[in-house]
Amino acid sequence: MEYHVMLVEGNRLMLEQLAHAIKEAPGFTLAARYQDPMDALGQGVVFHPNLILLDIDQQSGTGILADFLRVFPNTAIICMGERWQSEVASHVVQSGARGYLVKPFSAEELREAVDTFGKSGMEVSSHTMAFFSPKGKSGKTTLIANLAMSLAQKTGEQVGIIDADLQFGDMSVFFNLDAKSTIVEASRDVDFLSPISLNNYFLPVTDKVKVLCGTQNPSLNDKVEIEPFVSVLNMSKNLFRYVLVDIPAGFNPTSIAACEATDTTYLVAMINGGYEIRHMQRALEIFKDWEDYKERVKAIYTRVTPCDIAAKLQIEELMGYPVEAIIPNEYLVVSEAADNGRMATDIQPDSQLSRSINKLADKIIGHKHIRWDKP
Ligand SMILES: Nc1ncnc2c1ncn2[C@@H]1O[C@H](COP(=O)(O)OP(=O)(O)OP(=O)(O)O)[C@@H](O)[C@H]1O
Ligand SMILES: [Mg+2]
Repeated sequence: MEYHVMLVEGNRLMLEQLAHAIKEAPGFTLAARYQDPMDALGQGVVFHPNLILLDIDQQSGTGILADFLRVFPNTAIICMGERWQSEVASHVVQSGARGYLVKPFSAEELREAVDTFGKSGMEVSSHTMAFFSPKGKSGKTTLIANLAMSLAQKTGEQVGIIDADLQFGDMSVFFNLDAKSTIVEASRDVDFLSPISLNNYFLPVTDKVKVLCGTQNPSLNDKVEIEPFVSVLNMSKNLFRYVLVDIPAGFNPTSIAACEATDTTYLVAMINGGYEIRHMQRALEIFKDWEDYKERVKAIYTRVTPCDIAAKLQIEELMGYPVEAIIPNEYLVVSEAADNGRMATDIQPDSQLSRSINKLADKIIGHKHIRWDKP
């Protein structure tokens, strides 16, 4: 698609610089440029722009955006500001803009912004989930990978996975990814990033599922500080409808921060003898510090045999807490899929494992979240 851009930028020098970037960008033509938004509103219609880049730094509030939406009801509008401000970004998107772009931008960044936000709009109602396991080897990485694929397939929405299991994250192994940029680089750079540039740190698995890989070497884990990690997580909310975070087992600064920063914490344990239920109870006790833990914390057990309603009820009774999902013991399906770099839900869609993961995906999709209608 060819973009006919109308550029509205109050600062003269910036206007020149951005106009240059637009002309350089393949697939973009500069249809009109204005320094004064009132001129753009009055005269711009004759140029039939299909994309408006609107400076809102110099404007008071988002009133000006409303005027543009009224005069150009069928034109995608991307607002621009000099730095990334997540509240402003979500506010303009909720008001009807497709996204928020940090200026100045290069021709390439413009292309990426439009690819990311131009068609479907920037995400403002992301659902974020952390997967906590009391002791590790819980099946959570397997679950996250398959669940992400299922969510993407069912909804057609963008799904992001963040591998924050800093020392031994193996999401990249799971998907056969050779990561050049990982959570280490993303956290290092986050102060200078906006969602569009952060998008490049994620590696695509399909056109809907992307992974921010974990560290390549366990000793790098202390290169990821908590605050920037949380910024990466928060910024990802603008890129994906669903964000799934794999975290290190047990209570540690990373896992606690990820659980605090997400909407839902799944406690995951693999049935293996019986102690796990006790570990889950003890972990749950700690999460009870949250007033809303009953809504926010959900239990999942993997490798449940037989995987039926009676088993679920029995575990619920032992744990004294509702169980959100049980995943069957399907080692062959899981490992065969992993060996091929594909997902069990993909190669064996009829297996009991796939069915239970799809069922969990349905529950997640069914949860009510405020959804802003995309233009
Ligand atoms: N539903 C399942 N049935 C049988 N085996 C499974 C199932 N899910 C995972 N496994 C196997 O259990 C092992 C651990 O799984 P996985 O790596 O997903 O767990 P994890 O909690 O992420 O572990 P870690 O603590 O090492 O990160 C793997 O060998 C995996 O193939
Ligand atoms: Mg794991």
